[in-house]
Amino acid sequence: MTRVAYVNGRYVSRRSAVVDIEDRGYQFADGVYEVCEVFRGALIDEQRHFERLAYSLAEVQIAAPLRPGGLAIVVREVLARNKIENGFVYVQVTRGVAPRDHVFPHPPVRPSLIVTARQVSPEIGELKAQKGVSVITTPDLRWKRVDIKSISLLPNVLARQLAHESGAYEAWLVDCSGMVTEGAASNAWIVCENGTIVTRNLDHSILRGITRTTLIEIIAAQGLELAERKFSLEEALAASEAFITGATTLIMPVVRINGKKIGDGIPGPITLKLRAIFHDLAARST
Ligand code: PDD
Repeated sequence: MTRVAYVNGRYVSRRSAVVDIEDRGYQFADGVYEVCEVFRGALIDEQRHFERLAYSLAEVQIAAPLRPGGLAIVVREVLARNKIENGFVYVQVTRGVAPRDHVFPHPPVRPSLIVTARQVSPEIGELKAQKGVSVITTPDLRWKRVDIKSISLLPNVLARQLAHESGAYEAWLVDCSGMVTEGAASNAWIVCENGTIVTRNLDHSILRGITRTTLIEIIAAQGLELAERKFSLEEALAASEAFITGATTLIMPVVRINGKKIGDGIPGPITLKLRAIFHDLAARST
């Protein structure tokens, strides 16, 4: 739980951390965000997260809330004030506070920036990974620019809730051609019987996951075969392994899809190997 949050220029206690009711993030979900893992006191792939934040901001025409380097300082300060060794830092930028009007405020107002952090023991993920998780599938009802890490997450929230109610951990979203796009809060992967690792190619229909990007480098370095292409739900059900990736899950084995066992119904060896080496190879910054 965050004890100290950064809110628009001030470090404040969680209880007194408030935003204006006319913040456009609150009224229109007019904002973007990032979630970055903290592992043994280091930020994992910080640079890539900051680059994606800059991309999301540019795509929705929100100005950078701080000068370059400023956000890195704030993030470190929030981690220090909350004494976070392992967990996550959350960064959210919205277009700012203005009387409700769909059109951008003119002249522009200062973007709102909040940074929070949460301690989470890595053992929780490790235990989950030993067993693997279940996923269900549901239609992908999101907008057509999910490459932007927008705070507008209602379809993702509904999909995750459906997964939860079905006793599953994640929901895989399926497009109108029967192809899996990604998870509600993760990228989706399968391992085919011939050992080829498959994840959907990048376009506007998935988020360019940072864990995904780093894992692709690791797969290449390991000499494993990768195919970035669409895959169908049928193909996933016939795969020998499946997994999801994300800053909050790392590389998490999927052992059931819609109740059907994947492979032997236990975490696959390729998935577990990639999970085991991820932190050794991902960029760490302190
Ligand atoms: N979500 N796809 C979606 C829709 C996501 O929300 C996420 C991450 C990912 C994986 O991206 P990354 O590897 O950069 O974490 C893919 C974060 C963790 C969240 O919303 O909490």
